[in-house]
Amino acid sequence: MADLKGKVAVITGAASGIGLAGVEVFIAAGAKVIAGDIQDEKGRALETRFGKDKLRFVHCDVTDLAQLEAIMAEAPKAFGSLDVVWNNAGHGGTPTTVEELDLDGYDQTMNLLLKQVFAGTKFAIPHMKAKGGSIINTSSISAVSAGYAPITYSVAKKGVAHFSKLAAAELSKYKIRVNAILPGFIATSIFGASLGLPREQADQMAEMLAQGGGRIQPAGRTGRGTDIAEMAAFLASDAAGFITGGEFLVDGGITVGPRHSWDETANSPVLDALGITPEQAEQLRLAQAAARS
Ligand code: NAI
Repeated sequence: MADLKGKVAVITGAASGIGLAGVEVFIAAGAKVIAGDIQDEKGRALETRFGKDKLRFVHCDVTDLAQLEAIMAEAPKAFGSLDVVWNNAGHGGTPTTVEELDLDGYDQTMNLLLKQVFAGTKFAIPHMKAKGGSIINTSSISAVSAGYAPITYSVAKKGVAHFSKLAAAELSKYKIRVNAILPGFIATSIFGASLGLPREQADQMAEMLAQGGGRIQPAGRTGRGTDIAEMAAFLASDAAGFITGGEFLVDGGITVGPRHSWDETANSPVLDALGITPEQAEQLRLAQAAARS
């Protein structure tokens, strides 16, 4: 486990999923946390759970720039410094295609997923520039290729990854490291919430995904919030002092290649096009092997 003793972190989107796992892992690693979210009840429950000497909840809608600036200022006010910022809050965004693009939805998606990362970083700098720090931004595997999420979300997440690299260059003069994490398929409420389901149902759906999503990636199990939080805690720690401008896939291997490259029960697209089933392909392989011996 990473060592975060003496560090103070702001985590946004901290009431659920990946951010909540971040709170748990960071506090277990010795950090003090300012947890920001729009789900106030869940956020306040975190203060009861961890104690106000370790965690403060701040209502923070990251699309409200005044609230985002205020949460960064809360860290030195409550705990004496701001060492780590994890810009993590998010939502599935507008599901529309380019052809049918909902332009208001486009603006909302970009505000929530990309502008808040720019703004969260900007507002963190005054508190970090004297002694350095670590900024972590949640991107996505949808930044890598098509097929994982709607186009607006995916473009925003690509922007988050590229922003992290460019900001790492700019902020190196202050010893502020900036990195992006690209999570794969993680069982959280985001999928249900993006379908417009009430939070309780979205939370239940996350549990269903946790139970049933194992075969989606080579790792053979569903991703958990802690898989991402452990990477974030490492990037936040001094052990990652040489790491900045990086994009870190934490995806159970789902982006290694098409399914047939890691699942021997899946057929390759070429065999599909030839009308050859996996069983027939196996028989052909066996016949070839017999012919060679
Ligand atoms: P989640 O729905 O469990 O958590 C997201 C949190 O962000 C919620 O607590 C929600 O209340 C909060 N939030 C939403 N809008 C907000 C706003 N305007 N201001 C402040 N807080 C707000 O979802 P999850 O999966 O934990 O998402 C966290 C991040 O991970 C997001 O940026 C998401 O895009 C990203 N991600 C998630 C993946 C997954 O498979 N779950 C994959 C790749 C990226």
